[in-house]
Order: sequence, then C-alpha cells, then structure tokens
Amino acid sequence: MIPLQLEAPAKLNLALRIVGRRDDGYHELDSILVLIDLADRLLLMPGCSGLRVVDPAGNPVPGVPVRPDANLAWRGLEAGLGASPDDALACLTLEKRIPVAAGLGGGSSDAAAGWRLGRRWRDAGDEGDHAALAVIGADVPYFAAAVAAARVTGIGELVAPLEPVAGTIILVHPPFEMSTPATFAATRPADWSAGAPSGVAEALTDGVNDLLPAARRLRPELDDLMALVLAAGAVPRLTGSGPTLFAVVDGPDRAASVVSRLARAGLRATASAMRAAAASIAA
Ligand code: C5P
Repeated sequence: MIPLQLEAPAKLNLALRIVGRRDDGYHELDSILVLIDLADRLLLMPGCSGLRVVDPAGNPVPGVPVRPDANLAWRGLEAGLGASPDDALACLTLEKRIPVAAGLGGGSSDAAAGWRLGRRWRDAGDEGDHAALAVIGADVPYFAAAVAAARVTGIGELVAPLEPVAGTIILVHPPFEMSTPATFAATRPADWSAGAPSGVAEALTDGVNDLLPAARRLRPELDDLMALVLAAGAVPRLTGSGPTLFAVVDGPDRAASVVSRLARAGLRATASAMRAAAASIAA
C-alpha cells in the first residue's frame, strides 16, 4: 500500500428549512449545501498504527478527540475499511483547519473523508451506502457523496446533487463554539418556514436558516456580530447550527476589504470560495 491523502472541505448551508421533527427527536430538513475551499487534511499511511490530530503547525488541537473511538475521522475510516485500521496496518493523521463546533461540518467531513480513504484502501469506490453513515453524523452522507453542491433532505441522509455556482465568500468566526444538539433543542415550530429553494442560485438569494432564531436566543451576541458584518458592507447569514457567519461577496478584492474592515472592528474573518468539485484522493 502507498500513503493516501484527502482534503475534507467545510460546508455552508446556503439555506436551511426545518420541515418537521421526528419521534426520535431529529429534525427533518430541506437544505442547500455547498463545499468551500477551507478544508481539513487526512493522511492514511501504511505500516503504522494509531491516530494523530494536529493543527497546521503540528500542535495539538483543543476540542478534537484523540481517542480513536471518539474521533469522527477514525470512525469513518473504520466504516470505510470494514475493519479496524490497526488490523489493516494503517495509521491516520488528521490536520485540523476547520474550526470545531462552528456549523461548518468539520467533524462530519472528516468522517466522510476517512470513509472514502478506507474504501480506497481496500480498492472500493466512493459509491456505497451513504445514508447509513448518518449514524456517525447527519451531514456525513452529504460529504460522502463527494459533490460540490446538493439539496439535502430527511435528517441529512437524502442527497440530491446540484450544479455548483462559483462565488467568493467571507467567513466570520465568533469567539465561541455552539453545540449542534443545543441549537436544535432550542428551535420551535414557530421558527420554521416554508418555501425551501431548490437550487444553488435560488438559495444564494434566499439565505434563510430556520436555526437562526434558536441560535440568537442562545447567543444574543450574534445580533451584534451580524450588525458589524452589515456595517462592513456584507449581508450576514448563519451556517448550520452556528456560530459561524458567512456572506457572499463580489470577488476576492471585495472579500479582502470586508475582512480587513471586520478585523478593525475586532472580528476574526477569512475569505474563502465555493468549490467547483469535491476533493479527490491523492496517492
Ligand atoms: O448527527 P449530528 O451529530 O450532526 O447531530 C447532532 C445532534 O443535532 C443530534 O443528536 C440531534 O439532537 C440534532 N440534530 C437534529 N436534526 C438533524 C441533525 C441533528 O435534531 N437533522
């Protein structure tokens, strides 16, 4: 075997409608998801064992489990291999760049990338039972489908690929994390709305996220952050269960100017772009 590398991109919910709540407590969604350039990196190596989690400088990453059975990348890898990575004589390095508990899908993307690497390790393709991967995380089926854009329904397991659209975005990283279960638990049927957009272009103009009212109740300071983004010349939206805010802007120059205005206001912001395609495995 030879080493295999794969990027695990973050996602944005360009629009997210909650359409119901199941008896098991999970919410049924109708969401337009896109992949962005910001990505974690996974490296699967032969002839060693265990899991290493590092930041780009090689330092430990607070908030990401290093115990293999608690780590989503490892759990995805195990599912893709259909065996313990230790038995397959493979070790995994996860380089984290996507903020944790941020609404960017980092953990789910790591799980899907681990699954894709595990499949490749045993010469299987990316096709397979993506919906079953929702037991690892509701967004894992979307990432496992390896499509740049999709309309996602059910609790996240029904993935209909869409034509991606090019676009520059800025991300605003609030100085706190939000728990997905807590935000979902705080949502009320009065927050839910009808009329989900069906394509990426429609979602770009729609921008409704039914989790925003719950997120604002849990973190009222989101209102102040959104006002600062608006004052910097961009229209803020929430991705997933937050707290990351994003805005679609008119190209890299405009992104740089909004990012520097936000930095002057004391906010951490970065520029990124919607991806034209999912990442491919590099050998
Ligand atoms: O599966 P995932 O880890 O992404 O979800 C975390 C929690 O968020 C779930 O346990 C559930 O409480 C909530 N959730 C939900 N409906 C969804 C996805 C997640 O209620 N469609």
